[in-house]
Amino acid sequence: MTNTDIEQRYGFDNTSSEGGNQLQHLAGILDPHSINVLTSTGITPGMRCLDIGPGAGTITHWLAEQVGPDGRVTAIDIAPALSSGPNIGIRQEDIRVSDFDPGSFDLIHARLVLMHLPERLTVLQKLADWLRPGGTIVLSEWDCTYLNLVRHCPEGHDPSLHDLFQTTLINVLTPRGMSTTWATEAHGAMLHSGLTKVSTVVDARTYHGGTGICQLHYSNSHQLNDALLAAGMTEQQLASLRKMLLDPRLMLSGYLMHTTTGRRPAAH
Ligand SMILES: C[S@@+](CC[C@H](N)C(=O)[O-])C[C@H]1O[C@@H](n2cnc3c(N)ncnc32)[C@H](O)[C@@H]1O
Repeated sequence: MTNTDIEQRYGFDNTSSEGGNQLQHLAGILDPHSINVLTSTGITPGMRCLDIGPGAGTITHWLAEQVGPDGRVTAIDIAPALSSGPNIGIRQEDIRVSDFDPGSFDLIHARLVLMHLPERLTVLQKLADWLRPGGTIVLSEWDCTYLNLVRHCPEGHDPSLHDLFQTTLINVLTPRGMSTTWATEAHGAMLHSGLTKVSTVVDARTYHGGTGICQLHYSNSHQLNDALLAAGMTEQQLASLRKMLLDPRLMLSGYLMHTTTGRRPAAH
């Protein structure tokens, strides 16, 4: 199977006018959590890492610093939007067709990628095989089933617009392969694919309007403007939603981030 044999269905586009903003917002919201978990797995100089769907590339570059000149980070994205580095290799490729020898990596990281791929279980099995014995995989995914996310809606705004935006977004993205439940299924799937020492950390925090997750929703409402309209939201609802998302008195929770870590059993 080649890149062109399979359907490209990913719902966002790194090359769109809002694509770069989206990736920067994701990095700002999620990097502290990812770096905490990745650090706890024990990254050492010389490691060979794979970062799948690296987006802005902030975690790729952080990993490259940790593994140093004797290590290497391979970044694979259908639409790479990151800069390179002396120990970074970037491949423009669909992970569903990528191929590596068994045992090629000490660490594999993917954040908010498998949740968008209908073939996520097949991909996970490939990733497990690419780990060396004792190697680690770290998957971070958003649970999009828990949507009670408005912590405070200031006077003059309608909190139900946020709920409408969330359900419409899901209606736009699920036909393109996104799973709302994968975050809660990854733990069991890792055990099923033979990984051991599987553990999951759940992380979320709140943000004022105009920051963090509110900026991300604002950006995504522009990137997916036409699709949201086609799925039933009106121009007026989108305009009111955007106004609310920029009001600093608003307080929204981010989605619950499930970060699941597993290890390939060590060889005996
Ligand atoms: C939601 S973004 C997440 C970016 C980054 N991991 C983060 O959390 O900030 C998903 C990323 O995965 C990439 N991607 C989507 N489908 C892919 C596929 N089939 N193979 C490789 N990369 C893919 C996208 O281009 C995008 O960069």
